[in-house]
Amino acid sequence: MTVYEIIDAKKRGAELTPRQIRFFVRAVADGGASDAQIAAFCMAVLLRGMTDEECFLLTEAMAQSGEVPPRPPVGGVIADKHSTGGVSDSTTLILVPVLCSLGVKCAKYSGRGLGHTGGTLDKLESFPGFRVDLTAERFARQIAQIGGAISGQTAHTVPADKRMYVVRDVTATIDSIPLIASSVMSKKLASFADVVLLDVKYGNGAFLPAEADAEELARLMVRIGKRAGRRVCAVVTNMDAPLGDAVGCNLEVREAIAVLGGKKNDLAALSLYLAQKILEEALSLPEAEAKARVRAAVDSGAALAKLEQIVAAQGGDARAVREPERLPLAPNEVTVRAAGSGVCRIAAKKLGEACLLLGGGRQRAEDAVDHTVGILLQKRAGERVREGEPVARVYCRGAADEALERVREAFSYPPEYAPPARIGRYFKAEEV
Ligand code: URA
Repeated sequence: MTVYEIIDAKKRGAELTPRQIRFFVRAVADGGASDAQIAAFCMAVLLRGMTDEECFLLTEAMAQSGEVPPRPPVGGVIADKHSTGGVSDSTTLILVPVLCSLGVKCAKYSGRGLGHTGGTLDKLESFPGFRVDLTAERFARQIAQIGGAISGQTAHTVPADKRMYVVRDVTATIDSIPLIASSVMSKKLASFADVVLLDVKYGNGAFLPAEADAEELARLMVRIGKRAGRRVCAVVTNMDAPLGDAVGCNLEVREAIAVLGGKKNDLAALSLYLAQKILEEALSLPEAEAKARVRAAVDSGAALAKLEQIVAAQGGDARAVREPERLPLAPNEVTVRAAGSGVCRIAAKKLGEACLLLGGGRQRAEDAVDHTVGILLQKRAGERVREGEPVARVYCRGAADEALERVREAFSYPPEYAPPARIGRYFKAEEV
């Protein structure tokens, strides 16, 4: 058997055998397959698709391609949540402390920003000193001690996904449903969470534009989880407009803190909904009871106190949780004004790209992120605006003409526009 033969078989539309899939994944992980071969395989999968059986075997082989950390010796349910990537999405920073404060343990493995989408690890590093590279032992210890931890998976976890992702990112092969499903679920299976909630995004700022594709991806991932014996559920959510009002690390962390302090917007609504769904699954609670407990965790200040505890436990300067102005913003502030009158429509992807151009994300893996730059929305999608009114405030350094132009392009003002509902269908394991 050779890697070449496996690529050729998929190119012709054949269903790969378990042996072929395991052989290919081993070759990805141990260097037996070149980047060119990985790219060709991914393109063949993107064009020819995979059966459920192939996708499950691919996921399982990827999950087993590296180390699987041991489950910490704690009782009760351990939860995790994963988003397929969006703009102004700091839900993790909100729901992890909410859940931990309610007694649900959270083992949250997060990622860095990809393309125009933001990454939780970059945002957490807004807290000076915050460590996102916890060893498996320290991760487990922290969960046992304070109920939760948020870290990157170690270099030795799911190496096959790490390699495939880098190749997919530069070969236009991200937007394949079986490849996204195996990438996301391999990381979930290589963790020990009992309950996993997937937030599957669709729309302008997501990897999949169509809601029907996001629903197909959600169903597939729930089925993979079920076959692997995990409780996986998924919610499909819209990402046409940014989720919150802030784009850029320090601005987004400030906003997450504000939500834990009671601020209400789409970011708050989705974060608390996700926390509620995990609580329902983890503690078998009825919807209304779970919702009330989540609200109480915010209103009582317990969730904010838990964030402080998590930041401190991971070496971060936790004073910023009570004094968010300690997270600095870039010195130049530019107001962007509406170029017309109508209903505000905002393209999340353009704002994500603008943030990248400001230096707030990575164009290449080795780039440093400027946590201080970003965009603060002054108007929400669906709000009426008059020409000349401020729609966004941009925090930048030096000349930022291209980024400012991208921010202007993100806004349009049609006479009528109703943004799609943010929260779409919910898929439970027993229903797919
Ligand atoms: N997030 C992932 O982890 N993998 C993908 O392929 C897409 C989004």
